[in-house]
Amino acid sequence: MDSSELNRLYDFSGKTVVITGGTGILGGEVACALVGCGANVAILARRMEPAEHLLELMGGRANRAVAISADVMDLESLRKAAETVREKFGGVDCLVNAAGGNKPQATTGGDLRFFDLPADVLRYVFDLNLMGTILPSQVFGKMMAEKGEGVILNFSSMSAIRPLTRVVAYSAAKAAVNSLTQWLAVHVAQEYSPRIRVNAVAPGFFLTKQNRFLLTEEKTGDLTARGKAIIGHTPMGRFGQPEDLVGAVLWLLSPASAFVTGIVLPVDGGFSAFSGV
Ligand SMILES: NC(=O)c1ccc[n+]([C@@H]2O[C@H](COP(=O)([O-])OP(=O)(O)OC[C@H]3O[C@@H](n4cnc5c(N)ncnc54)[C@H](OP(=O)(O)O)[C@@H]3O)[C@@H](O)[C@H]2O)c1
Repeated sequence: MDSSELNRLYDFSGKTVVITGGTGILGGEVACALVGCGANVAILARRMEPAEHLLELMGGRANRAVAISADVMDLESLRKAAETVREKFGGVDCLVNAAGGNKPQATTGGDLRFFDLPADVLRYVFDLNLMGTILPSQVFGKMMAEKGEGVILNFSSMSAIRPLTRVVAYSAAKAAVNSLTQWLAVHVAQEYSPRIRVNAVAPGFFLTKQNRFLLTEEKTGDLTARGKAIIGHTPMGRFGQPEDLVGAVLWLLSPASAFVTGIVLPVDGGFSAFSGV
């Protein structure tokens, strides 16, 4: 292999990537990187205002991007989004399932005991992370099955490997995402095509709106005890930056990982490798 062959592997020109949660801190970074590597990108989220900002950031490349309002927990809205993607780009090559997150009311601590966590909020977090990965995989995975190739990339978490304290539904749902990643990788390769792959990335700790309330003090912005514990347990000694994820995502979406399926790749500054001693 020479450098021009290597560059070709990471040239996404003519490929279409759907990114759920594409307006989020991590999903947005992935969307910009993919457009920069030549891809057509469909950004799915419920609210469209953050997408406007993202399209502005893409500048002249934004003509290869489209923002579509869709709810990953609503099959009908995903089907409509798939039709829009088909009309605009002709099909789909990759799906990035980045929509997900936690809710403060599904988090133990203070007055909120495990016994009192409201069932509807627990169910919401479970559905968002697990069903919100399964349903887009059904809709866009079917399009991949029709043409016999494609890549699905899920977003897992450190809390899937060993559950983090306080975030009960989130941890259980992300553990289920790991299981789903392996199950679906085997299923699509055996039933549809060995050229359809399913993998996941497990980001370590990135400061975003879903975890800011857990990791920093609202008034001062200082690290909470939990934030300090995370940094202390991350051998690289810092939170991740969204761009830290991009290399792993591009690798797993590209033909450079053509023989890789069913894995969950940590991008965590060493958090999952460190025993704490
Ligand atoms: N940040 C971290 O440290 C970290 C660590 C490990 C794993 N992760 C995982 O990485 C993924 C991305 O996280 P992030 O930090 O980028 O999240 P984020 O900044 O909170 O963004 C979440 C994205 O998901 C979308 N979304 C939420 N609910 C949705 C729904 N029902 N239907 C469609 N879209 C929905 C949001 O847009 P709308 O609200 O407009 O729909 C937004 O685009 C998540 O799965 C998260 O669990 C994050």
